Amino acid sequence: METTFENNFKHTPVLLNECLQALNINPTGLYIDGTLGGGGHSIEILSRLTTGKLIAFDKDDDALSATKNRLKKFGDKVVFIKDDFKNMKKVLSDLGVKGVDGILLDLGVSSYQIDTPERGFSYRFDSILDMRMDKNSSLTALDVVNTYSKEDLIRILYNYGEESFAKSIVTKIIEARKLKKIETTGELVKLVESAIPKKFWGRGNVAKKTFQAIRIEVNGELEGLDKAINEMIDILNPQGRLAIITFHSLEDRIVKNVFKERSSNCICDKTIPFCVCNHKADVILVNKKPIEPTKKELDENTRSSSAKLRIIQKI
Ligand SMILES: C[S@@+](CC[C@H](N)C(=O)[O-])C[C@H]1O[C@@H](n2cnc3c(N)ncnc32)[C@H](O)[C@@H]1O
Repeated sequence: METTFENNFKHTPVLLNECLQALNINPTGLYIDGTLGGGGHSIEILSRLTTGKLIAFDKDDDALSATKNRLKKFGDKVVFIKDDFKNMKKVLSDLGVKGVDGILLDLGVSSYQIDTPERGFSYRFDSILDMRMDKNSSLTALDVVNTYSKEDLIRILYNYGEESFAKSIVTKIIEARKLKKIETTGELVKLVESAIPKKFWGRGNVAKKTFQAIRIEVNGELEGLDKAINEMIDILNPQGRLAIITFHSLEDRIVKNVFKERSSNCICDKTIPFCVCNHKADVILVNKKPIEPTKKELDENTRSSSAKLRIIQKI
C-alpha cells in the first residue's frame, strides 16, 4: 500500500513558473512551502537553492511520507513539518528562525487527496464521508452531515459553497438522517440531486458546491486564514515575498483584503475625512490584479481553472 500510494501521488503544480518568478529566489535564502502536497513547487524551489533551505509544511501524513521520499536527493536542504501552516509563526520561532525570504501557499486539496476514494473528498466515487486533510483530526464530513443543526448546515452551504439551493439540500439531509445515518459520498450526491431541479444542475457536478462547503468546514480552511497571512507577512525579511494561490472566491477575498490592508498607508473608514489610524504600509503589491493560468496551462491541467495567484513583497 505504502509504495503504490507513493507512485500514485500525482499532483501537477499550478502556476509553477509564475510562483517561481513570484518568489524571486535567492539561492542562499530560506524559503517556506506552506502546502507541500506532492512537492511540485518545492522541488523547483529546492533546485534553485545552493546553500539556501526550504521548510515544508503539510498536515496530511500521506503527502509528507510520499513527498519526503520524492525529495530525498535534497538531503538536509529541506525540513518537513507535519503541522497546519497557520501555526507557522510558532513553529519557526521554536526552530530559532528569525526571518524568511519567501513563503508559498497553494491552498486547497491535492489531486492525490481528491483522487483517492477512501479519503472521501470526491463526489466521483462512492466512499465513506471523510474529507479530513489531517487524518488525526477529529471532525469528519460524516459528523458534519449527521450531527450539525439545520441552521449550521444551511450557513455552511451558503457561506462556504455559495450554494443557492442550500435550504432545499439541507431539508433533504435532515429528512434522510432521521431514517438512517448518511454514510457515503454517494448518498450525499443523491440527496443533492434530489434537492435541485435538473434544469439548474448546470455544468460540472451538481454536488460540487456542497462538497466544497463541507470540506472547508471539516478542515477549518477559512478560519484564522487572515491571521495566519498577517503572521506570515510579519516573519518575512525585507524584500521577502509571499505568494498565495487560491481556488475559490472566498479564499481569494481573504488574501486580497489582507494584502490590501498591509499595503495601504491609511485604513481609516472612508467616511472619516482625514486619517486617524496612522497605519503604515509594510508591503507592496507585486501584482495589482491576480495572475491566472494561461490558456496552455488550462488546456493541460483543468484543475488549474479557478486558480489565482497574488503576491506581496515586504518593504
Ligand atoms: C493544492 S495541494 C499543494 C500541491 C503542491 N503545491 C504541489 O505542487 O504538489 C495543497 C496541500 O496543502 C495541504 N494543506 C492545505 N491546507 C493546509 C494547512 N492549513 N496546513 C497544512 N497543510 C495544508 C493539503 O493537505 C495538500 O496536501
